[in-house]
Amino acid sequence: MSVSSRMEETSLLCLLFLISLLSCSTNQARLTVSPSSSQLFKEDFVSLSCEEDDSSAGWTLRRNTSREQRTQCGDGWGKNYGSSCNITHLYTWDSGVYWCESREGPISNMVNLTVTGGSVILQSPVLPVMEGDDVTLLCKTKTTPSNLPAAFYKDGSLIRKQPTGHMTIQHVSRSDEGLYKCDISGHGESPSSWITVTGKPTTTVMPFTSGPTPSPNLPFLQIAFRVVLHLVVFCPYFICTLLVVSLFRHRAKGNDLCASNLATQPEQG
Ligand SMILES: *[C@@H]1O[C@H](CO)[C@@H](O)[C@H](O)[C@H]1NC(C)=O
Ligand SMILES: *[C@@H]1O[C@H](CO)[C@@H](O)[C@H](O)[C@H]1NC(C)=O
Ligand SMILES: *[C@@H]1O[C@H](CO)[C@@H](O)[C@H](O)[C@H]1NC(C)=O
Repeated sequence: MSVSSRMEETSLLCLLFLISLLSCSTNQARLTVSPSSSQLFKEDFVSLSCEEDDSSAGWTLRRNTSREQRTQCGDGWGKNYGSSCNITHLYTWDSGVYWCESREGPISNMVNLTVTGGSVILQSPVLPVMEGDDVTLLCKTKTTPSNLPAAFYKDGSLIRKQPTGHMTIQHVSRSDEGLYKCDISGHGESPSSWITVTGKPTTTVMPFTSGPTPSPNLPFLQIAFRVVLHLVVFCPYFICTLLVVSLFRHRAKGNDLCASNLATQPEQG
């Protein structure tokens, strides 16, 4: 009787342990930007949010700019509203790299924002683009509400002139990755923004063996963190299984009331 209840206790504890580890490993934040553009005009508004799986994790939004490093939202810039941070009046020195960070260490994706004092921006995706997706780039002026003809450049060379001011790259591939800018004649040139293309997500557990094209925008620490977590989850599971099996065998050797015990156990509880 005591061995049987201990066995159930052990497996229950193992299960709880596993569930807590699994929920911990899925606790990742994603940084999103609204409006979704990597370039913004001076005096514009932007809202950045840490979208998290577990809202109790306590993520903070941080940034590096040319002026300061690792400062958090509310600390001299932006206003914190729950999990989002609003900057109502952008300055050019708000340009920089933004990310979400938790006390435990894991960080979200990083986002580069460029705030320009000029009159032209290229609206390009802030988040990495998935291979095979379509991407639309928009060339905008600060003052003209309608779209004007624009020229688009990749890595310094002209790729297309578009009368409508926007350009769609269909079924993006790795070769579309690069530094983009645009130009509207009579208004000027936009800053440059890097567009990252990532491979289709795989369902493989181990990121190191997921294929010949490891995604370059996943920070190494994040990958290492995931691997360690998978190991941490897998090992206790293995140990628990061994423990339960050995207890079960030990019990089966003693007396043979296994079936009746298992049947009566739920009623006692
Ligand atoms: C912050 O920005 C978000 C997104 O635009 C908006 O929904 C929210 O109302 C803003 N919060 C404040 C207090 O301005
Ligand atoms: C931000 O700046 C700190 C200090 O220089 C540096 O260690 C860190 O790697 C930077 N982070 C990003 C995302 O650039
Ligand atoms: C941000 O911009 C810097 C400088 O242009 C570049 O080295 C870095 O790869 C960019 N990071 C992302 C996440 O786009």
